[in-house]
Amino acid sequence: MKELVFATQNKHKLEEIQQAINGHFDILSLFDLNYLEEIPETGETLVENALQKANFIYQKYGKDCFADDTGLEIESLNGQPGVYSARYAGNGRSFEDNMNKVLENLHGKTNRKACFKTVIALIYKGENYFFEGVVNGVITTEKKGKEGFGYDPIFLPDGYSKTFAELSLEEKNKMSHRALASQKLIHFLRQNK
Ligand code: IMP
Repeated sequence: MKELVFATQNKHKLEEIQQAINGHFDILSLFDLNYLEEIPETGETLVENALQKANFIYQKYGKDCFADDTGLEIESLNGQPGVYSARYAGNGRSFEDNMNKVLENLHGKTNRKACFKTVIALIYKGENYFFEGVVNGVITTEKKGKEGFGYDPIFLPDGYSKTFAELSLEEKNKMSHRALASQKLIHFLRQNK
């Protein structure tokens, strides 16, 4: 079976993809390559970061590879926190701190539109490919729910009456930004084995 590396150290993301690709490819993780350090992530866009991570592993191991990068983009904050979502309140700060900063910055604003965006960069047979998944929604005025991670308690996806953190993981994983991008990647790989 053809090998493909997923440049991630996140076991949940890995399992999700491995299940979905189900026998078509042998998906290796950074654990399988015994690469346990951080991958540099210095881009200014999700596309740059995803490609930087995939390219780093591709250069090092010479194996076809993909990587993802995700951000929460808030319309009235000019797309912030975007590519800086993981460290919006500063390096090493918690999900709580990041959410509090968003709620403070949106205080009194009527436009609370936001979207989660995932970009997957794939290096495959010498070419670069990109797959994007977007979920539109609004930022709530308070945190609700205990599931998930990151900004889930303050993100209400369009068409739902529950935040991402009030949905079960199974429900979220069917319709999330990451799921949508992964589905596009999997479709491509099945067509181009
Ligand atoms: P990453 O690129 O997947 O590491 O995501 C970067 C940051 O975006 C994370 O540290 C979270 O703060 C946020 N994030 C990514 N995906 C989600 C999600 O599904 N729900 C809530 N926050 C997320």
